[in-house]
Amino acid sequence: MSILKTNIPVGLCSDHAGFELKNIIIGYLESQGIEYRDFGTYSTDSCDYPDFAHPCALAVEDGKVYPAIAICGTGNGIGMTLNKHQGIRAALCWEPELARLARAHNDANILVLPGRFIQPEVAIQCVDTFFQTNFDGGRHQNRINKMPVSECNCK
Ligand code: RB5
Repeated sequence: MSILKTNIPVGLCSDHAGFELKNIIIGYLESQGIEYRDFGTYSTDSCDYPDFAHPCALAVEDGKVYPAIAICGTGNGIGMTLNKHQGIRAALCWEPELARLARAHNDANILVLPGRFIQPEVAIQCVDTFFQTNFDGGRHQNRINKMPVSECNCK
C-alpha cells in the first residue's frame, strides 16, 4: 500500500546541485499523476539550500505536503537543515534498500537524495520504494518517540 495521501501533494525542494534531478523526479511524478508542490530552487543558479529546506520542512510539519523529497549535491546539507525541525525525519538514501528501511524502521517523512552521487534511474527506484513502504511500528515507534530534543533525559 502506498503512503501517498490522495488529498495532500508530495513536497519537493533542492538547491542548484539538486535542481536537475528534482526536475527528473517531477517528470516522473507527473507521469504517475502524483500531485506535488515544489518549494524551489527553480534554476541552476548558485543558492543556499536552507532557503528551500526550511519552507518544505514547515509544510511537512503542518500537514500541507506529505511525504517530501529533498536534494542537494551530497544530500548532507539539505538533510541536516531539515532535521533541525523536530517533526522531521529526513533520511539520506542512495539505494532502494536504504529508502525501504528509512520508511519501515524510521517512519521517515522526507527522502533525501544526493544529486551529484546517484543515477536518475536509481533515484526513481528510491522514490518508488519510499512511497510504497509502510512504517513497521512496534519497537521502532518507541525509538522514534525518543528522538525529539524534548525527550532527552541526559542532562
Ligand atoms: C553545493 O555546491 C553543495 O555544497 C550542496 O549541494 C550540498 O552538497 C551541501 O551539503
